[in-house]
Amino acid sequence: MRQGCTGRFSQPPAPMLFLLIALTVLLSTAPVIGWRPWPHLKSNATDLQLGDNKKFEGSSEFVHLKYHMGPVLTANITVHTIWYGTWQPAQKKIIREFINSISAAGSKRPSVAGWWKTVQLYTDQTGANISRTVRLGAEKNDRFYSHGKTLTRLSIQSVIKSAVTARTRPLPISPQNGLYLLLTSDDVYVQDFCRQVCGFHYFTFPSIVGYTLPYAWIGNSAKLCPGVCAYPFAVPDFMPGLKPLKSPNGDVGVEGMISVIAHEIAELASNPLVNAWYAGQDPSFPVEIADLCEGIYGTGGGGSYTGQLLDDHDGATYNMNGIRRKFLVQWVWSHILNYCTGPNALDQ
Ligand SMILES: *[C@@H]1O[C@H](CO)[C@@H](O)[C@H](O)[C@H]1NC(C)=O
Ligand SMILES: *[C@@H]1O[C@H](CO)[C@@H](O)[C@H](O)[C@H]1NC(C)=O
Ligand SMILES: *[C@@H]1O[C@H](CO)[C@@H](O)[C@H](O)[C@H]1NC(C)=O
Repeated sequence: MRQGCTGRFSQPPAPMLFLLIALTVLLSTAPVIGWRPWPHLKSNATDLQLGDNKKFEGSSEFVHLKYHMGPVLTANITVHTIWYGTWQPAQKKIIREFINSISAAGSKRPSVAGWWKTVQLYTDQTGANISRTVRLGAEKNDRFYSHGKTLTRLSIQSVIKSAVTARTRPLPISPQNGLYLLLTSDDVYVQDFCRQVCGFHYFTFPSIVGYTLPYAWIGNSAKLCPGVCAYPFAVPDFMPGLKPLKSPNGDVGVEGMISVIAHEIAELASNPLVNAWYAGQDPSFPVEIADLCEGIYGTGGGGSYTGQLLDDHDGATYNMNGIRRKFLVQWVWSHILNYCTGPNALDQ
């Protein structure tokens, strides 16, 4: 297989990277669980320097991922989706096919199903693993922006409430094995979007929704901040000279969402009620299995270098195969290996 070198600069020394990540985590007033692929990447950042690519992929020395005795998703996982705002059928199709790829047998290697195997390694108190099966559940369209074009963390829960209590075809209530994805179209702003987060996960409050349901929000950043949330298919303005990579499915905003959706589903499965697998002392700032591998998509990744990726024949960049399509998805932390890994790792 061909590898595309996609970074023109290399990572800072590991301790500095971790310091930067730690500072970002400590100083941000972000929601407890937020994600953007390049938390440490700021204009004039000291990591934009040329240097060697050494194996980095996270650093076990600094990471103390612990199990805090809470549940993980061990039953067949069903993903219920709320399409908020204006979505094209072709956009929905890319996202559905990604979710269907998570437990698809027989995709070409390296595969999305191979990526999920690392998530399956996490267990609960009883020794039960996270489920191998992730499937699409029901879908709800919220075409008319029921709660407006600006959402807050709390109004997101109201959107979910509307979806599960709708008079016609409400989303099923499945607290055991259901995950609820709220996907907002590119004309919707969500609290802290672009500045601190591209997506986050949490669980709903019975006082708002009536149930405790693990959910995630992920926004399409195409109009608001593709350089932040759809990197490396778009690049930030403060990095002149850096060229965006070609995305494999021809929709930069949606493909930026794919890796964030993957990030959130992996964390929802391993930490659905925010009392299972995370690092850090403070449960208000849990650092979870995908947070630890932000921006790492291949061997050697770390800092602002994506790691070694694959080139499609048409010049698009990806790192794993799904059903019929190729995707670029960040790696997740393996507590067995004690570093970040993915199906395209060269040392497996
Ligand atoms: C970045 O560096 C340039 C030139 O050194 C300077 O003009 C600019 O103000 C700096 N930007 C920030 C955000 O510090
Ligand atoms: C379940 O988790 C254990 C402990 O991490 C691991 O050794 C085992 O391979 C996992 N099983 C599956 C099917 O992933
Ligand atoms: C879980 O999914 C598998 C297919 O992956 C299926 O064989 C099994 O019956 C499902 N179990 C339940 C309880 O639905």
